[in-house]
Amino acid sequence: MLEKIANLLSEAVKEDEVKVFIPENPDFGHYSTNLAFEFAKMREISPDEAGKEIRNKLTHAAPKGFFSRVDIAGGFLNFTLSDETLEKEINLILRQKQNYGRTRKGHKKTVVVDYSAPNIAKPMNVGHLRSTIIGQAIVNLLRFEGYRVIGDNHLGDWGTQFGGLLAAFKKWGSREELKRDPIDYLVKLYIRFNKEAETNEELMNEARMETAKLQKGDRENRRLWKEFVRASLKEFNKTYRRLGVRFSVVLGESFYQKMLPAVVKDALEKGVAKKDDGAIKIALGDEKMPDIVIEKTDGSHLYATTDLAAIVYRVRKWHPEKILYVVANEQALHFSQIFKAAEILKIAPQTELEHVKFGMLLGESGQKMSTRRGEFIKLEELLDRAKEEAGKIDQKSAEQVGIGAVKYFDLSHDRRSDIVFDWNKVLNLKGNSAPYILYTYARLRSVLRKAGPKIKKRLDLSLLRTEAEKKTVRQLVYFPDMVAAAAENYMPNYLADYLYKLANDLNAFYETSPVISVEKNLAESRLALVAAGSVVLKQGLKLLGIETLEQM
Ligand code: ARG
Repeated sequence: MLEKIANLLSEAVKEDEVKVFIPENPDFGHYSTNLAFEFAKMREISPDEAGKEIRNKLTHAAPKGFFSRVDIAGGFLNFTLSDETLEKEINLILRQKQNYGRTRKGHKKTVVVDYSAPNIAKPMNVGHLRSTIIGQAIVNLLRFEGYRVIGDNHLGDWGTQFGGLLAAFKKWGSREELKRDPIDYLVKLYIRFNKEAETNEELMNEARMETAKLQKGDRENRRLWKEFVRASLKEFNKTYRRLGVRFSVVLGESFYQKMLPAVVKDALEKGVAKKDDGAIKIALGDEKMPDIVIEKTDGSHLYATTDLAAIVYRVRKWHPEKILYVVANEQALHFSQIFKAAEILKIAPQTELEHVKFGMLLGESGQKMSTRRGEFIKLEELLDRAKEEAGKIDQKSAEQVGIGAVKYFDLSHDRRSDIVFDWNKVLNLKGNSAPYILYTYARLRSVLRKAGPKIKKRLDLSLLRTEAEKKTVRQLVYFPDMVAAAAENYMPNYLADYLYKLANDLNAFYETSPVISVEKNLAESRLALVAAGSVVLKQGLKLLGIETLEQM
């Protein structure tokens, strides 16, 4: 709707960039614009005159009866949609159901979303959890806007740590233990290795040798490495299954290793990279960030080199309009360097690269989330606890409510800031939480079940005149606008905030507006609103990766 009004306006005044927004205060209509200010400045007339002129032009451009009023207040124009328009829109929800608000904005455009990306032989941490949850929501939102989205799990499955692991496994390793509890076991081996290496220099040499052998394709080492990867992935996949996450591709860092020499060669040939003390560096020519090393003196490559190769590969393979990196704030410098290098190297001239940053998830007292032993808390433990806590609300669907609550808690915050995890908030049935919205949905579904086929869903907006009813109608019509804003800005919290407000309005409506035992036409109209509300809540949550329950 927002876009439709913006288009009508820009058609009316022959301006390209017209900003329309949703006013906080409902007295200012459904939509507003400050276009009259701009217009007044340009034409050197008063904002009031400008407003009137725009309104006149708009009356010709807009379909008859589309607005019930267009008010001029200072430099603002406030638009109120007519009952006819609102009724059409609510009926559209009932007809299109889960497709209400879907667009083709991204038609024929591809976006690659790089998300999750845990590291092999290490437990997934809460940072990876945030990347997974936020990344998946962004994937869903962009698909809803019609984009072809490639969700790519850029696994950390390569690097020097494997040398140590290989050496350790050859000395002390046991296949059985690896099978039993792979990640735990690999972490233990790695810790033991580092500890013994402190007093035994020879071990570090062995590790280096093992890395070199692995990189050269030594059969035994490749086989062991593959086993580590497979075993770790098996555990990650358990978490992904619980979270309902699916990737289009899982191309780890190892996938790009054979392309790295070509990346270095290309950079040297373009004169962008230079040898410096035996290492090869790309000079970024920016005093705010250090140059990047893409090849070390010993000929090995780095995290950054792999990211450059991944850009080259993705651009060639998918011709994306954008590549989004859903990665923690801490890596901001790394991505600025990579993006700058990509620009100088001209490896992605048609592709926008963006770091979709997020803050830390902190424990209840504001410190990094960890166990008593000072390690990262294990994700499975966090999800198990969520299930346990949710069991107090709904025993039958504890897993679903618990996981939904964790996801929603994450997604309802502005991703860029740190958030403090608080079980009371995560599961608060009366506040901005998944359980609250899920419960609201289940209540609506129960009304629909109780009404049964006896009462039809037929909307006559002139019968819905209470404050709660009007607020609900208004809120429902905003759904497509909010989804679009969330998708375009990669901000799932816009959608979460909206769903919370809608749930509040629906609850107020539910409390004050009985469906059973009122006059037939009123009952039918209210039931239509209940149905529309349930459709939007369900689809909204689904986009956030949260499944609804019919009963709670
Ligand atoms: N594996 C990395 C880590 O855990 C994240 C990778 C992010 N993606 C990328 N293309 N660099 O820190």
